[in-house]
This record gives sequence, C-alpha cells and structure tokens, in this order.
Amino acid sequence: MNENEPFRPGLEDVVVAETALSLVDGDGGRLVVRGSAIEELSALRFEEMCGLLWDGALPTPARGEEVRRGLGEGRVEGYHELSRTPAALDCGDAMEALRAGLAALRAPAEPPERTGCRVAGAIAVLLAAWQRRRLGKKPVTPDPTRAHADDLLRMLSGAAAPAALVRGLDTYLVTVAEHGMNASTFTARVVASTRSDLVSAVVAALGALKGPLHGGAPGPVLDMLDAIGPPERASAWLRAELAAARRIMGLGHRVYRVRDPRALVLEAALAALEAEGVASRYLALARAVERAAVAVLDAHRPERKLRTNVEFYTAVLLDALGIPRALFTPVFAAGRSAGWLAHVAEERAVGRLIRPRQRYVGPLPAAFAGEPALVAVG
Ligand code: COA
Repeated sequence: MNENEPFRPGLEDVVVAETALSLVDGDGGRLVVRGSAIEELSALRFEEMCGLLWDGALPTPARGEEVRRGLGEGRVEGYHELSRTPAALDCGDAMEALRAGLAALRAPAEPPERTGCRVAGAIAVLLAAWQRRRLGKKPVTPDPTRAHADDLLRMLSGAAAPAALVRGLDTYLVTVAEHGMNASTFTARVVASTRSDLVSAVVAALGALKGPLHGGAPGPVLDMLDAIGPPERASAWLRAELAAARRIMGLGHRVYRVRDPRALVLEAALAALEAEGVASRYLALARAVERAAVAVLDAHRPERKLRTNVEFYTAVLLDALGIPRALFTPVFAAGRSAGWLAHVAEERAVGRLIRPRQRYVGPLPAAFAGEPALVAVG
C-alpha cells in the first residue's frame, strides 16, 4: 500500500469499479446505458429497461413480457408482505415507510431477478399504500396483468391512469434507472461485496438515496418554486439562499459540469404530456427559475459550473403526473431499484470484499512512538 496516497474526501474521482452498465460523461453531458444514449432509451417501458440492465441487451417481446409478469408477481407478493408489516405505513415519512417495509421482506435463496422483482414490486405497493393511508383510504390490490408504471399509478389513485400519464411515468422510471457510481449504487455494491443478500443491499441503498444531496432533492425543488412565487422574484430569492449558506436544490452535480442530460429528457416528457392535454402548473416558472439559478450560481461559484441536475425537472414532471411531493424520492427508488439490482449482480461477479483503508490521525500509545508506518494506514 502507498502510504502517501492522498485522501480524497467524498472519494471524488476515485474509480471503485469497472462496469458495463453506464457511462456518465460529466464534461460532455452525456449518459450512456448499456451502449445507448439515454435520449434513445427514454421511449422504453420500465420492463424493457429492466431487461436491458439485467440481461445486457434490449429484451425481445417475449422477454419483456416475462419481466412484466415477474414485476406483477412482485407487486402481488409485496402486497401480501405488507399485511405482515402494517406498522410500516404508520411512518410519517414515505421513505421511512419504504425502509421499514422493505427491511421486512424475506430474502430466501432464489434467483436474483426474482428478489429484484419482489423488491421493485414491494416499493410500488408500499409507496402507493402509504399515500392512501395518509388520505384515510384503503390500499388498492395490485393487478399483475398490468405494466408496472400503469399499476403503480392505479394503486395510487384507485382508478386506471390515462395512457399519457403512464407513458410519462415510464419515461421517468427509465431515465433514472441507472446512473453510474452514485452514492446509493455504491452503497448497494459495498453490501453485495460482503455476500449479503439483495434485500439488505437495497435497504442500505435506500438509506443513501433518502438524503437531500442525493434522491431527497426533488420535493424541496417544488418547495423552492412555491417559495419564489412570481419568476421576477427568483434572482433575489436565490441570492438570499446563497447568502444564508444554503444550497439551491436541483442544481449542481458531482460529475456533470454541464446540464444533466436527463433534465432535457424529462423536459421533453413534460412537453409530450402538454401536447396530450396534461399541462404542468410549474413548467414555465421552473424554466425561469432555472435560468436565474444558473446566472446566480455562475456569479457565486464561476469555477464550479453548477448546472441543472435531474432532480429539478423530476419535481415538475412527477407533479404533473399527479404524484404528491412526499412520494418523489420513493418513486425515484422505484426506478433506481432496477439499476441497484444490475450493480449487485456485477459486484457479485467481481467477488471481492470492498474494504478500503483509512489514514489514522489520532493519538498513539507512548510505546508506539517512533513507528511512523503505523500512523499512515489502518
Ligand atoms: N447550491 C449552492 N452551492 C452549491 C450547490 C448548490 N446546488 N452545489 C454545489 N455548491 C457549492 C458547494 O456548497 C461547494 O461549496 P464549498 O466549496 O464552498 O463548500 C461547492 O459548490 C462544491 O461543488 P461541487 O464539488 O461541484 O459539488 P459536490 O460534488 O460537493 O456536491 C451535490 C454535488 C449534488 C451534492 C451539490 O451540487 C448539491 O448539494 N446540490 C443540491 C442538491 C441536489 O440537487 N441534489 C441532487 C443531486 S442529483
């Protein structure tokens, strides 16, 4: 081991895996998943994206149907599991409910895809049931014959969703399904490297996703748009936030130095919705706030190039789909679970425990004095 290796807070730019899953081009603003640009993939259904991520190639219609059936069975099993852990729905926060509900899932020895479908199914069931409980309504039984996005929206509202909304949700789930070595994916890989089970990997990943610097940002994005009100107030409001040392939600990224390509995909999904008569109440304001935020952040940190990330238009799109902001992060988890499963499979194939080193900077017993090598590693 090189004792002089610099410590990089946040593991910035440290390569921790080789992957065939995705390429995040931070300078070019491109995202490639399994060899295709995200813009090309955005028309897929969630089932097809799962097939692509899990198998390595776009699924044939028969394989797509198999994944659809698997996810349907997963939702039905998730619904039955829920009856064993009804207290999960009492949590005041939807992510806590999801964490509690998923933690109670069984993790028997079974093909990983089956566990993956049970996990994805349980996420959809739990988030819908949590929201209905909040409104004093009973959960809706899943319909395993429906596609995943379609049934998720139906379980939320209690009625079949219009095709335009289902397409919008599919685009969202597909767009966020996989995105390199983000914090939750890395967490899942660390757990998988210990040869622990997939449910444990997903529960751990969920904990990482919950934080406001990762998947917890889109709810606060809408709060920000509400707080700004008329667009002409945006610049002053944003400057005041920075002056108070707060971050602007939905902007900035560890890897992207240009606009996140997924922002454009989600904006296009909003335009498609609008063309079908589902207009967003926030889109015009969001565009104005984005312009103001980029200008204000450029003046604040010109060297960092803080640009719009995926969460900004996630908030606007999910709102237009009728999904309440308390569910934004759980719906993110619904999409990202497909990527977590694919990464767990890759990590298992590597088969090497993830166990990095640290540099000890605390005191040493007097007897160790004069042994500098001990100071460096641990
Ligand atoms: N608003 C204000 N300042 C920001 C900022 C934002 N959205 N994003 C980064 N910065 C500032 C940081 O405060 C930091 O300043 P410092 O050096 O004085 O501490 C500096 O820019 C670091 O930038 P960078 O290294 O590019 O960011 P990071 O890798 O540390 O963080 C995020 C990346 C995503 C966590 C960060 O941009 C952020 O918190 N964004 C808001 C939350 C969000 O939208 N999360 C969703 C991510 S997809």
